Amino acid sequence: MASPYNIASARAQPNIAIVKYWGNRDHRLRLPANSSLSMNLADLHTTTTVRWSADLLDDRLTINGKSPTVAALQRVQTHLDSLRRRLGTKRRAQVDSRNNFPMGAGIASSASAFAALTMAAVAALRQDMSQRELTTLARLGSGSAARSIPGGFVEWRAADSHEESYAETIAPADHWQLDDVIAIVSDQHKRVGSTSGHASASSSLFQPARVETAMQRLREAKQAIAQRDFERLARVAEADSNLMHAVMMTSSPPLFYWQPLTLAVMAAVRNWREAEGLRVCYTLDAGPNVHCICAADDALAVAARMADLSPEIAILRSPVGGGAVVLPN
Ligand code: DP6
Repeated sequence: MASPYNIASARAQPNIAIVKYWGNRDHRLRLPANSSLSMNLADLHTTTTVRWSADLLDDRLTINGKSPTVAALQRVQTHLDSLRRRLGTKRRAQVDSRNNFPMGAGIASSASAFAALTMAAVAALRQDMSQRELTTLARLGSGSAARSIPGGFVEWRAADSHEESYAETIAPADHWQLDDVIAIVSDQHKRVGSTSGHASASSSLFQPARVETAMQRLREAKQAIAQRDFERLARVAEADSNLMHAVMMTSSPPLFYWQPLTLAVMAAVRNWREAEGLRVCYTLDAGPNVHCICAADDALAVAARMADLSPEIAILRSPVGGGAVVLPN
């Protein structure tokens, strides 16, 4: 029987970036081209159990109770190899992961997945590790996972070394009552994932301009959050999302994630803000769904208007959340 000391579970939330990560300066280490900033989403989560065992010959993985694709298993094995090197074990792992939200549709399931996996894997071996180092380890699995370890509003620093590219909280979850009202226009798995998108980002003429000006937007966003200035946050979040998608569309091969309904929601959001005075703005990750970040007081009004736009839109809603946690046994 496996020792009870080699098993642990952890829960992590996805995050939505206000200043985006797109493109790497080092693909293997996932050292990002620019620093980024996000908020965690309290009501969405991945729960992962890791059991390190001397009896296993290979790593095993289930996602939502099912066998994963070969590619997903390989990606997790590669991450487990990094964890084994750092943790000094040769044991193989049984990994069971569950999401309470749709995967692969622009809601960053890889962020919560690799944050929860990293946290559970370290906890299962009862090793002490600083939160800062945990964020760097999670980053090796998926860049944005670094931002799902700390709580609330989180900055992930771009740097030239593994140790220096870490994430930290810049304001706790209860600093500002914001909600993310997500318009799910498609829950199909995306055809081109973020990892190959990062690899082709530098083929866009616009990527250098986006990266050069990212620090400016990061400073703006941090000030907007510090001062709870919604208008300022809205300007920078929409500009940053538009810039990232301009890079995607002008990369080779070009990546078009928007669908007709995506554009309809984006136009409606601007109208709700500018004509109706709702505190809401949009931002999109590598998928067609539209994250509508809004003042919590306006979230019901935003969701109601979104539902009126089209019966094809499903709606998810979440306030800002805390960091990844190890669950009691
Ligand atoms: C568009 O972190 O999913 O959501 O490091 O290859 O796993 P990998 O990429 P990932 O990229 C996220 C890209 C984004 C923007 C963001 O979250 O900052």
